[in-house]
Amino acid sequence: MKLLDNKVAIVTGATRGIGRAIALRFAEQGCAVAFCGRSRNDQMIAVEQQLLALGVKAKGYAANVADFAAAAAFVNDVMADFGRVDILVNNAGITADSALKRMTEEQWDSVIEVNLKSVFCMTKAVQPVMWRQGAGSIVNISSVVGLAGNYNQANYAASKAGIIGFSKAAAKEFGARNIRVNVVAPGFIVTEMTGDIPEAMKDYWKTRIPLRRPGAPEEVANACLYYASELSTYNTGDVMHLCGGMEDA
Ligand code: NAI
Repeated sequence: MKLLDNKVAIVTGATRGIGRAIALRFAEQGCAVAFCGRSRNDQMIAVEQQLLALGVKAKGYAANVADFAAAAAFVNDVMADFGRVDILVNNAGITADSALKRMTEEQWDSVIEVNLKSVFCMTKAVQPVMWRQGAGSIVNISSVVGLAGNYNQANYAASKAGIIGFSKAAAKEFGARNIRVNVVAPGFIVTEMTGDIPEAMKDYWKTRIPLRRPGAPEEVANACLYYASELSTYNTGDVMHLCGGMEDA
């Protein structure tokens, strides 16, 4: 018996990075996985094949989760293909960093829409399904930047802090129906998003992160597995810090 046997999960933004690691970890635990990215590119097809090779049902969809109608259509397609949704991981996210003095309206809007509005759109779309099922687990990926702020990331910090408030409200509204909503707030995780790592960053790890290293996508995936599975049936409205003990988180 695996932790997610007979479950169906949606993972947003799983063509690479943390989302891909979550999709793979869930599939290893017997979960059918529907995932999305902005387009059906080679990366999406490769992830789909990796998931299928683990012996589960899996499909990638091109969907912009920041668009209300597109998110609803994505969930409708998943229901037609998979028949239920037990788990939603809102992972899709972007950065558009700039000092606040120079930040443009476009930089603000794009980050708020992709990181925060998408969580609203996807939660709205799956909520009726989970409500009918009388159970569900929603895991939202925030960031330590949403807790502590960061230079050049006022837009990103606002979006990630917004996810926490949204999740705590949704946990209150959905708890009576056994739909749990939890947040994972990672620190510095090495993925494509973080790009090439300057030497100065390595010094930072040594002085500011008690575990003396960045995290791996698989470590975020393990936290999501905990919240997605029945290991966490009494957790809702949580924010799990996953940052190697970073002192300003
Ligand atoms: P990434 O850039 O490697 O992957 C992002 C994924 O989101 C891609 O699959 C992309 O196609 C998808 N995506 C972006 N916009 C989308 C949209 N509008 N609709 C559908 N899919 C969309 O990023 P990474 O590093 O894997 O980050 C994943 C999540 O974890 C993000 O929410 C990020 O903010 C968060 N995070 C990352 C940290 C890090 O150090 N890498 C630290 C803390 C949080």
